[in-house]
Amino acid sequence: MGEMRKGIMPMKKLLLINCSPVRNGATAEIVHMAQEGLSAAFETKAVCIDDYSIALCKGCRSCHQTAACVMQDGAQELLSEMAWADVILCVAPSYWADVPGQFKVFIDRCTPWCNTHEPYATIGSGKAGYAIALRTGPSMRECQRLLDTLSHFYGHLEVDTRGTLGLCQVENRDDALGRREEILRFCEDIVSREKQ
Ligand SMILES: Cc1cc2nc3c(=O)[nH]c(=O)nc-3n(C[C@H](O)[C@H](O)[C@H](O)COP(=O)(O)O)c2cc1C
Repeated sequence: MGEMRKGIMPMKKLLLINCSPVRNGATAEIVHMAQEGLSAAFETKAVCIDDYSIALCKGCRSCHQTAACVMQDGAQELLSEMAWADVILCVAPSYWADVPGQFKVFIDRCTPWCNTHEPYATIGSGKAGYAIALRTGPSMRECQRLLDTLSHFYGHLEVDTRGTLGLCQVENRDDALGRREEILRFCEDIVSREKQ
């Protein structure tokens, strides 16, 4: 943890987020494989949206004036993990052709951090974002919808989206395990991109 690479550069910190409420499903398996593929190059931490208790946004918009939420709960805890990281990798399954509701609730609660109003809070600048979307059905268009949601989320938090991967026909953990090569290749791309 936090070692110096070749005694010169500190390792970048990478946060993996399981955006599914299922802690041991296909998404969790992909997070696990990605963490394996990334942990030699980064200090990694993996979390699940289900680790946090996050209330629904009330839409009160007081954050537009204050850059703070009227509620304090798991939303701030997850945002502080994102603030810790230099690189963020969200892995999201399709639930009705979008990110799971639990993760969408978190996105809504990030409005104090959204750069479309002044003032806004920040998780820090210069962060890189990556995303993996998975689904049971065969068409990549639906994965792209999720990837667009995640890129949009990153964009308003001023996280630079640098790579995405869509995985169709992944219903369960075994299907996820069958995609190991693709996932590890994506991790290699992250490592080489972030080395630059
Ligand atoms: C509530 C729910 C809705 C889903 N909706 C879709 C869908 O719209 N399109 C699709 O291709 N797969 C859909 N799926 C399948 C999941 O995307 C797929 O099984 C994924 O591997 C689940 O990952 P998880 O077990 O980690 O949550 C849905 C699954 C659930 C539980």
